[in-house]
Amino acid sequence: MEVSQNKPVEIEISSASVFYGKERILENLNLSIKEQRVGFIGRNGSGKTTLLRILAGLQELHNGKVLIDGTEVAKKRNEAIRKVGIIFQNPDHQIIFPTVGEELRFGLTQLGLNRNEADLKVIACLKEYDKVNWFERSISTLSQGQKHLVCLLSILLMKPMVLLLDEPFTGIDIPTQRKLERYLGSLKQTIIHVSHVPETFENYQRLIWMDEGVVKADGPPKTVTKKYKDAMNNYNEKNI
Ligand SMILES: Nc1ncnc2c1ncn2[C@@H]1O[C@H](COP(=O)(O)OP(=O)(O)OP(=O)(O)O)[C@@H](O)[C@H]1O
Ligand SMILES: [Mg+2]
Repeated sequence: MEVSQNKPVEIEISSASVFYGKERILENLNLSIKEQRVGFIGRNGSGKTTLLRILAGLQELHNGKVLIDGTEVAKKRNEAIRKVGIIFQNPDHQIIFPTVGEELRFGLTQLGLNRNEADLKVIACLKEYDKVNWFERSISTLSQGQKHLVCLLSILLMKPMVLLLDEPFTGIDIPTQRKLERYLGSLKQTIIHVSHVPETFENYQRLIWMDEGVVKADGPPKTVTKKYKDAMNNYNEKNI
């Protein structure tokens, strides 16, 4: 079941455009990603979440296509769940089951494990985070940060080739964040990470700045962060 990935997966976005009604959200986007650690940054509404949704095959494209390791993710859903996992910005949009155990088990059973095999992995994972008593816990009793952690763990358990993280540490306390960062840092899988915190990307190979649905800058995190920060600091209040 586990995907051991020694070389980064190839991701190809070609001529991708997304509209909501008449509003164009992503415009003729072309990106080829072969790096293992890639960050996305940009203002609110610049299209970052929409971009992750097209990479997960969850968002209809007006034109263009997205290939992950050669699979057109929007069309081959069974293959897509092994190749790509997304952690939503809002945990309430991700969680579908009433208890933590059921939520964490679901992805593993989707990958073909039986219930007992899945539960063993879920319990081991919860133990790792000192949360074994969460197994029977009702999701509705968790705080927002705790829900976020459940979403993150559910995808980490599935070990897809590509992890799409949409501001994954929102509301998560510092010790838990550090532990997750260490774990994510140890993974061989490709990670595509959206954050508003430029320092997150210091050790990444590539950072892409999105602005109004197009790529504004793309390159080493240091260079892109400088351009991004300069532009943001030069905004007048009237532009916001
Ligand atoms: N279902 C929808 N219907 C209409 N417009 C939408 C819909 N979903 C997103 N949008 C619009 O698409 C644009 C891009 O949204 P997106 O969520 O991708 O931005 P983002 O860069 O992730 O922003 P943030 O940093 O706030 O998370 C925004 O202007 C948003 O209002
Ligand atoms: Mg977003």
